[in-house]
Amino acid sequence: MKKWLIIVALGLAIAFSSGFDTPSPIKTKAQLGKKLFFDSILSKDNTISCASCHIPAFGFADTLAISLGVNATPGSRNAPTVMNLRGHDPFFWDGRAASLEEQALMPIENPVEMNLPIKEAIKRLNNSKVYKSLFLSIFKQLPSPKNLGLALAAYQNTLETDESAFDLDEMSASAERGRQLFVSDKTKCFDCHNGPDFTNDDFKNIGLYDGVNLTDEGRYAITKNKEDLGKFKTPGLRNIAVTAPYMHNGMFKTLEEVVEYYDNPYQFVPKPINLDSTLIEPLKLTVEQKKDLVNFLKALTDKQYLKKAQ
Ligand code: HEC
Ligand code: HEC
Repeated sequence: MKKWLIIVALGLAIAFSSGFDTPSPIKTKAQLGKKLFFDSILSKDNTISCASCHIPAFGFADTLAISLGVNATPGSRNAPTVMNLRGHDPFFWDGRAASLEEQALMPIENPVEMNLPIKEAIKRLNNSKVYKSLFLSIFKQLPSPKNLGLALAAYQNTLETDESAFDLDEMSASAERGRQLFVSDKTKCFDCHNGPDFTNDDFKNIGLYDGVNLTDEGRYAITKNKEDLGKFKTPGLRNIAVTAPYMHNGMFKTLEEVVEYYDNPYQFVPKPINLDSTLIEPLKLTVEQKKDLVNFLKALTDKQYLKKAQ
């Protein structure tokens, strides 16, 4: 081979390989937020990241009823999905965070989650050459609590899904019957689970508080308003087939159980306190109707997840 050809070939090889080695450039707040979301640098012992509890393969929710923080410390509630939150507020089952930006700093400091004081987290980011330069180029500022919250919120705002069988008009006959039940006066599901993401962004008590076995007071702990006792944020229902277990305490493992619950809450909780008036009468659904409702709920799950499950 001619000398110049070898040099050109070598040059091309180097150009290609270095091109492949370079990680995809991080240029936006959302891309920076994504890196942070998956980085255990934000936990005290560098063992867990946001994604440890909000697991992408499970609709960014946790598979455990109660999530474990650093040192396997259990928290007190089920980790909900962080997908399809754009345009909704407030956050947490009890609504104690008004914005995603504000919310993002709370798990970092929470002793049963990442257990790292925000001051310490910011110091770590400033001590990291990579993060320091990323924050400087994207925010024109050094890492701070404010831009950390902005980056994590910007990433989570990209986690929108709209390709479920429901969206694509590809529901089975059973799921379609389930949809009709869901919006009917018989079940009243749609009274609370409405809008494009199937939530009214309100707090409701579906009967999972009895003051004895079920003692999480929910919204009441924040407002101290008696009417709020046992109320929790109505969760959206997109990707619900992959975000088990369900409810603020993760007490139901399957959607079949959830539907059994709504059919007759008293079977599970004989003496609920402050139960919402729409749920006081058992629904008395037939076996087929229950199946149809479950199939409708499953049809709200994005195609990307169903492909993986098969
Ligand atoms: C140890 C597990 C764990 C870790 C780590 C964790 N979370 Fe969570 N997350 C939860 C739990 C549990 C809840 C529900 C708590 C509640 O409502 O009181 C939650 C709730 C949320 C919510 C509210 C969702 C809604 O519908 O209101 C968002 C947003 C969120 N987390 C984002 C994050 C971000 C961002 C990080 C990383 C900085 C993170 N989480 C780290 C367990 C975790
Ligand atoms: C009165 C308002 C209301 C009605 C009516 C209602 N829901 Fe809910 N739904 C909620 C609230 C609030 C929660 C969370 C409760 C908790 O964790 O304590 C919830 C939770 C759920 C969950 C679990 C979500 C998750 O991520 O854990 C599913 C599934 C669900 N509902 C489906 C239905 C179906 C199906 C119907 C009709 C049979 C229905 N809901 C009727 C308010 C309501």
